[in-house]
Amino acid sequence: MQAKQSSTDKPDLFTPITIGKLELSNRIIMAPLTRNRAGEGNVPQAMNVTYYQQRASAGLIITEATQVSPQGVGYPATPGIHSQEQIDGWKNVTKAVHEQGGHIFLQLWYVGRISHPSLLPEGQTPVSASAIKPEGEAITYTGMQPYVVPRALNLEEMPGLVDQYRQAASNAKAAGFDGIEVHAANGYLIDQFLRDGTNQRDDEYGGSLENRVRLLQDIIAAVTEVWEPGQVGVRISPENGFNDIRDSQPQATFNYVAKTLSGKGLAYLHVVEGDMMTGERGIDYRQIRDHFDGPYMANCGYTQDKAQASLAQSNADMVAFGSLYIANPDLVKRFKADAELNTPDQTTFYGGDEHGYTDYPSL
Ligand code: PHB
Repeated sequence: MQAKQSSTDKPDLFTPITIGKLELSNRIIMAPLTRNRAGEGNVPQAMNVTYYQQRASAGLIITEATQVSPQGVGYPATPGIHSQEQIDGWKNVTKAVHEQGGHIFLQLWYVGRISHPSLLPEGQTPVSASAIKPEGEAITYTGMQPYVVPRALNLEEMPGLVDQYRQAASNAKAAGFDGIEVHAANGYLIDQFLRDGTNQRDDEYGGSLENRVRLLQDIIAAVTEVWEPGQVGVRISPENGFNDIRDSQPQATFNYVAKTLSGKGLAYLHVVEGDMMTGERGIDYRQIRDHFDGPYMANCGYTQDKAQASLAQSNADMVAFGSLYIANPDLVKRFKADAELNTPDQTTFYGGDEHGYTDYPSL
């Protein structure tokens, strides 16, 4: 296992780690963070370049979730990677991060049932594994609107869906990224196939665990035609109830998912541990780590102390920080100096301008 080979006996957050052929200078990872500040046409714009460049000292930046196609959209002002303008916009981001010596993966996203006809081409009905409506409301350009009953994808549509990921992966390469992360977490489309609360299909994409993991497997196979496996990470969230999703046996399901993703030489498995909103955890994440044969990235409510303890106990190889990265562009430096941290302002998390985005002070 690469993580073990390249690390000292007791790695800490500042110990370099090799993932695939990339040498990360530390294990402090910037988590993917939706900020709803893409420009016209869902194109990354100047303030997005500044934002990522400010955070380039992270061992790795994982971008905000980014639509693989116009059908994958779920929120206003989130970026895509399916048009030339978007590729060009992202090129400015990757160039700026690389100029600072940083590394950056693009997170590939397709929201499925967490969309709304008003966000989709020709007012299409959102798709999912099964026609099960989530509780709650979609965030649209005209305010909150109740979710609709999604349309279950036909078997014949699956290759076309996988093609969208393959193309997006190729576009990410053209945009100069160091790799990609497949977003299979947080109640979005791939997760809607993985978890049995949203997947009641009786074809080869539903029912057994083997079938529920098939879409993720197909997508990994497609994107690794474009990228080396060591440049492809996967994010899962076994217990996160965000977006009204659940699985009846999260431990068994995600032990299996982790095992299925092994033997491929993937860059890492990124795990949202517990419920994002309540912080509750019911399963043993060590089992998931032990079922995966590559680097394990932990995420969800970690502080520096908790992260260090997790690395010391070998429960994780890297830790991704979300809200701390919103507020602290120089998080690595602050952790190293045991310096005070800026407090994230929740009111500016989603949408708006540079305020609460690129104006958090560095030390
Ligand atoms: C969000 O927009 O709130 C969001 C997006 C992607 C995630 C989680 C949350 O994975």
